[in-house]
Amino acid sequence: IADIQSHIDHELVSKPQIEELIRRVAAQVSQDYAGKDLLLVAVLKGAVNTMTALSQALTIPVQLEFMSLSSYGAGTQSSGTITVRKDLDCSVRGRHILIVEDIIDSGRTLRWLVDELNSRGAASVEVFALLDKVSRHEVQVDVKYPGYVIPDEFVVGFGLDYDERYRNLDSIAVLKPQEYQDQGEQS
Ligand code: PRP
Ligand code: MN
Ligand code: MG
Repeated sequence: IADIQSHIDHELVSKPQIEELIRRVAAQVSQDYAGKDLLLVAVLKGAVNTMTALSQALTIPVQLEFMSLSSYGAGTQSSGTITVRKDLDCSVRGRHILIVEDIIDSGRTLRWLVDELNSRGAASVEVFALLDKVSRHEVQVDVKYPGYVIPDEFVVGFGLDYDERYRNLDSIAVLKPQEYQDQGEQS
């Protein structure tokens, strides 16, 4: 298997750009939640890198929790149905929650999770998503801490996968066309 860089067609967001955004968001979150008991909820698996980077850049103590949700199968198409692969192992009742996501595509994952956490009695639910494919939204989601708006290209890296690979790339990139075995199915 060749070096990960040799699979990449072009980079969309560089490592320094990711770090700059996360520094800026972390400073804002630290200010907004100063004196509050904040619970960060990352959506596994894609948000794992964003969660690590954001949490380490915060200057306030927070609780880290994880929920594993899936809207994509092996391909590049969102299925539209949310599957809970692993639920939270704590109650969110009365808690201030910041959901940490890697990307908003159709918006269905976040729409579902915001509604779910509110129905479980959270005191507040806000969202940080590193990337946003604004042109692909099918449902509306309020994002308090917006990330980079990217075009409708299938991206990998910094947690994002294609068929479970490339999550360990340290930037956001588009793979070479021959890497996408289901190419042509994307609208
Ligand atoms: C991806 C991504 C978001 C979601 C966005 O997760 O990490 O969680 O899809 O798509 P949506 O806005 O259309 O719902 P995926 O289902 O691929 O699972 P993963 O995080 O384990 O890769
Ligand atoms: Mn995900
Ligand atoms: Mg995925």
